[in-house]
Amino acid sequence: MVDTLKWIIQDDEDYNSQAINQAAALLKQGQTVAFPTETVYGLGADATNSAAVLKIFEAKGRPQDNPLIAHVATLEQLTKLVDNIQPYVKKLIDTFSPGPITYVLPSNGVCAENVTAGLSTIGVRIPDHPVAQALLRNCDIPIAAPSANISGKPSPTTAYHVFEDLQGKIAGILDGGATGVGVESTVIDCTEAIPTILRPGGITVEQLQSVVGDINVDPALVSATERPKAPGMKYRHYSPEVPLWLVQGTSLEIQQVIDKEQANGVKIAVLASASTAKQLRAEEIFSLGDNMNEIAAHLYDALRKYKSSDVDLIVCEAFSEVGIGQAVMNRLKKAASKYMEN
Ligand code: TXA
Ligand code: MG
Repeated sequence: MVDTLKWIIQDDEDYNSQAINQAAALLKQGQTVAFPTETVYGLGADATNSAAVLKIFEAKGRPQDNPLIAHVATLEQLTKLVDNIQPYVKKLIDTFSPGPITYVLPSNGVCAENVTAGLSTIGVRIPDHPVAQALLRNCDIPIAAPSANISGKPSPTTAYHVFEDLQGKIAGILDGGATGVGVESTVIDCTEAIPTILRPGGITVEQLQSVVGDINVDPALVSATERPKAPGMKYRHYSPEVPLWLVQGTSLEIQQVIDKEQANGVKIAVLASASTAKQLRAEEIFSLGDNMNEIAAHLYDALRKYKSSDVDLIVCEAFSEVGIGQAVMNRLKKAASKYMEN
């Protein structure tokens, strides 16, 4: 056990604060520090120091074959980690970075081998969050950072979530409040002539298509029998403490599922859009929000909220897979023990 330091960052002035200096100093010394990004909180370590990177895997209980994303503040720093940036990648970076997107590119070997889990490619990302930017600029080294949760649990969107999972296992947490996007970055393989989406995320397929036209989607995202190209996508993830059923259908159809279980004494929490939530009855009702952006932002908090002491089952509305709904449904399908398609 270590003493986990916690710093609260509240306003613009704090971006140059003692807290950022301390956090950056710890990272440079080879320690792990959690920090907010616009998607979810990340658990950072010096990406050029394999002993520091190993601490990330240990704290999270993460399988060693799952590569990490290297975070940098600028395009200039990004180009120092990779070979061979094709022209379309420049276009994507110009349009979407800083932002919720990770480019998989040929690694030039600057980052430690355990960052890439031995692959010849590396995932690189320029986060668009003032605290992440301030931290990365201050340390001036690439920072390897997966989501700052225990492996298998929902990703953290508040410093409290990080604290729940990793307190005593990491050197510090920078608390910058709740993250905005709420689901992780889009991971896009840019090693070939046409890019391939490996993980849907904050930047939508529609947005990507508007810039580069042709986009492939990893077949594993649509077929359960394909082996995913992003090693992390083969793991079951985002598991809430109680079983979750993902139910597609009208409010009436969702209510029928709830009623049937309740008749057997099952206590239920419902997660749904605001308009659906209003029409449902159960022990607990959680409105995820009015639109898909709000639903994405509140998803992981909702998945962490219900404990087995409160309810026996979470019933969650299935959403349409357009825009950011693709990322939301990708995570929900992984979180669910049962998917009822009507
Ligand atoms: O929004 C995000 O991306 C957050 C924040 C903290 O930046 N990070 C994050 O990292 O979600 P993580 O480690 O939880 O997920 C990274 C995903 C994994 O599925 C991993 O397998 C994949 O990206 N990945 C990383 N490097 C890769 C590579 N070289 N080739 C293929 N997939 C890669
Ligand atoms: Mg993760």
